[in-house]
Amino acid sequence: MRKGRNPNGEYKIHRTALNAVAGPIEEARGLPNYFYVDPRAFACECKQVFAQGWTCAGFAKDAPHRGSLFPFEFAGMPLLMVRGDDNHINVFHNVCRHRGRILVDTPSTVKKAIACPYHRWTYSLTGKLTGTPHIGGPGQHSCADFEKNNVKLSKVRSAEWFGLIFIDLSNSAEDFDRYIAPLAERWRAFNGVPLIHTGADCTIEFALDCNWKLAVENYCEAYHLPWVHPGLNSYSPLEQHHNIVSQGYSGQQSTCYAPGVSDSVLNFPDAPNLPPFWESGAEYISLFPNVLLGLHRDHFFAVLIQPNGPGQTIERFEIFYFDEAVREDAYAAARESNRDLWQSVFAEDQDAVEGMQRGRHSPGFEGGLFSPAMDPPTHAFHAWTARALLNGRAVNNIAAE
Ligand code: FES
Ligand SMILES: [Fe+2]
Repeated sequence: MRKGRNPNGEYKIHRTALNAVAGPIEEARGLPNYFYVDPRAFACECKQVFAQGWTCAGFAKDAPHRGSLFPFEFAGMPLLMVRGDDNHINVFHNVCRHRGRILVDTPSTVKKAIACPYHRWTYSLTGKLTGTPHIGGPGQHSCADFEKNNVKLSKVRSAEWFGLIFIDLSNSAEDFDRYIAPLAERWRAFNGVPLIHTGADCTIEFALDCNWKLAVENYCEAYHLPWVHPGLNSYSPLEQHHNIVSQGYSGQQSTCYAPGVSDSVLNFPDAPNLPPFWESGAEYISLFPNVLLGLHRDHFFAVLIQPNGPGQTIERFEIFYFDEAVREDAYAAARESNRDLWQSVFAEDQDAVEGMQRGRHSPGFEGGLFSPAMDPPTHAFHAWTARALLNGRAVNNIAAE
């Protein structure tokens, strides 16, 4: 096969570079520019990274009620989140089994049936085909040669954790519990806490002109704090951040978290019965491949990284509190201040990640160097991605054990 004809074959010419990424940090180079700017590399990532294992795709709050339908796209693929009568969320490919129209165009809530706008075939909330109007001719809603009971929407394996919806497009990844176990164990003190989201004052969205990986790797590290976030660094300095590198995730731990966005607003209630670390501790973790998490004793946030081609990324930032009391008007100013604080911090990062993206067009850059002291979390993400690109996620998981 000619080089360049097969999107999967494309990255093979970068095997040497990918192997160098996955090597020891002292010798490693970062992922080459190709993986940040080239549509063929992005297609390869969609296949090797996003479609091969557990990937964050949305928030449980996107489908808030029984019967809620939430259409969304992930890596160019139309998907549909459905909250069933049992309050459980399922994810389906958002396409009608008849002639392939997108099944649901906009978020909505239905009582029982999901109806295709084209010829009105209907499906139950669990995806079974239930209605086929005129399928046997005008007025004939069934047909001897068509067994409707055998037809279902195409389902995507999914799981919910910490208010997030994860999908496994391959249908063959390890059990979700196994995927999430290292981080779930780390954060077990927060098991079962209520996650309270109060709407617009808990939501931020950023459209970034950069590759999705730059958003992830920038979040992993605290190295840039003094220069990119001088305000944040004044009360949460670099010296009080420590690297976290683990199986399937990396990031930073802060040991100087002081709740309270300002003296003039209420503090949020803490999650109950936390170990002493969380009194002044906080953790900021990139869970590979595409979700950024921040955990504090009084609030949690998650940033879903939605890749949209090699040079475009959407960040969906959602804040959650741990007590119903935060819904009260008394907390309105505090909620707004907290959202504004995170909005300004992430806006400071936008310039950095878009600057790195522009740098990826330079032939004078070949993946970059890592500081063995400051960049282990970034290198962990690069190495994880390189292994996924080289061998697929299933092999990656085994290699990490
Ligand atoms: S395409 Fe959906 S009913 Fe025909
Ligand atoms: Fe930052």
